[in-house]
Amino acid sequence: MSSADSTSAGGSWLSAARRGLSAARRRHAIERLGPLEDVDIQLPRSGVTYRITKPNDIDTLLTIAENDPEENLPYWAALWPSGVALADEILAEPELIQSGRVLELGTGLGVTAMAALSVGADLIISDYANESLQLAAYNITENGFNEPAVMQMNWRDPSDKFRKLVGNGFPVVIAADVLYELRDVEPLLELANWIVAPGGLLWLAEPRRYSAGRFVELAEEQGWTDELVEREGPWPEMEDTGVTVRVHRMRRPGSD
Ligand SMILES: C[S@@+](CC[C@H](N)C(=O)[O-])C[C@H]1O[C@@H](n2cnc3c(N)ncnc32)[C@H](O)[C@@H]1O
Repeated sequence: MSSADSTSAGGSWLSAARRGLSAARRRHAIERLGPLEDVDIQLPRSGVTYRITKPNDIDTLLTIAENDPEENLPYWAALWPSGVALADEILAEPELIQSGRVLELGTGLGVTAMAALSVGADLIISDYANESLQLAAYNITENGFNEPAVMQMNWRDPSDKFRKLVGNGFPVVIAADVLYELRDVEPLLELANWIVAPGGLLWLAEPRRYSAGRFVELAEEQGWTDELVEREGPWPEMEDTGVTVRVHRMRRPGSD
């Protein structure tokens, strides 16, 4: 995924000029991702539906990604069960994220972000891929929500701008299916230990991946607590996969 090909020339924040674009100009910005398709997805527990625009030509995406120094694949372009499951959890328990600033890691197409915004979260979305951030912002505004603050970041190498944004940490961080590579377990745990404020919540959804299990294990050794529920779908666009999603409510040690 190319971060050089950025929406944010000269910085990590989307520029003021890019925020507040008209719908037509937003659409134009994402059309370089090749052919797009619109899908209506329904969250399995709440029944809430969102219209998601996403790329449907993997070759274009792989070409965009081929010079990425991190060798990330364009996973942001798919609808993952974990993002859908976490969206439903948020809608079921909105009070958990209404009390302060919320940061989302690995936003993808924006499904979880929309649920958070719909219950009034003061949300910042973040992702390594600027393509994800452009599409998420498009989907969020097309579904009638206000555009959230947006930050490009690499959780393996957080920038000074990101550190400044985090300050003393967020009371809530949300993240769906961000632990699928073993190389990310330690960087993400290190990150969690400062981006989540003491006593704060990391609301993490993952489809029973080994890396995610390892992350939770190591976090518990460091004093984090975890409350877990499992969800079965059906998952939009992945109906037949039989994926079970674990949703963790992890609390960082320390007082609120
Ligand atoms: C499997 S996708 C999940 C997307 C979304 N949360 C969902 O559940 O549909 C993983 C997301 O993490 C992002 N990501 C991967 N590596 C990253 C990194 N080093 N720093 C920040 N984001 C990263 C990807 O671009 C992608 O959007």
